[in-house]
Amino acid sequence: MVSKILLIFVLTYAAVQSQINNPEEEVGGVIGTTPELVTDIFGNVLDINNIPTVPFVPVPQLISNEGYPSENHYVTTTDGYILNLHRIPRGKNGTSNGKVVLLQHGLLLASSDWVLLGPKNGLAYILADEGYDVWLPNSRGNRYSRNHTTLSPESSAFWQFSFNEMGRFDIPNTIDYILAQTQQTSLFHIGHSQDLQKWVPNVEYLCSKRKIAFVIKC
Ligand SMILES: *[C@@H]1O[C@H](CO)[C@@H](O)[C@H](O)[C@H]1NC(C)=O
Ligand SMILES: *[C@@H]1O[C@H](CO)[C@@H](O)[C@H](O)[C@H]1NC(C)=O
Repeated sequence: MVSKILLIFVLTYAAVQSQINNPEEEVGGVIGTTPELVTDIFGNVLDINNIPTVPFVPVPQLISNEGYPSENHYVTTTDGYILNLHRIPRGKNGTSNGKVVLLQHGLLLASSDWVLLGPKNGLAYILADEGYDVWLPNSRGNRYSRNHTTLSPESSAFWQFSFNEMGRFDIPNTIDYILAQTQQTSLFHIGHSQDLQKWVPNVEYLCSKRKIAFVIKC
């Protein structure tokens, strides 16, 4: 198993890189009075007219482009949100260690965070190649999880939620779905940043069910 220090590094690096690589997300801030210039996350000055853009490729496509098995799953939460989960059930090697791992993205991010760095550095690929069955959930409201059984994402009612609902519904409903699909009784849960905030409403549930092997915050 990869050491904790390496994991923390990988997670932080993944988050940084995903912000740089994902054209949908913001980079840095505007410098002074020259709106063409922005700083990237490392403080480098960039000309906004010359920032290379990457065409949007959905996560399942990114995964299969790298030659890994890729699956799409949908979970309907107790309060009606339809969440899109991505899965890499095994590595290229095809061997399984029988363990399931859930990689939860942080604030304003998505399942893409765990694969954008590619097979060599993306934690989802590294774990799949180690034999893990890797699941990549998406929180309600992000680009993959913008659907509901009765509410339209165009309506303001759809957006009446916060971390509290993510913790009360998204995480436990997602974990229950994954455990049912994989016929397991527990899984490894790796959370990035905001993920831990989401636990607050449900710590008792998450711990009492003993479904959580460990968590890393960075
Ligand atoms: C496949 O993965 C297993 C378990 O991690 C490992 O023991 C084996 O050496 C790997 N085989 C190849 C060809 O990489
Ligand atoms: C939203 O979910 C419904 C019910 O599962 C489905 O019929 C519809 O295609 C979904 N819409 C989108 C945009 O994914």
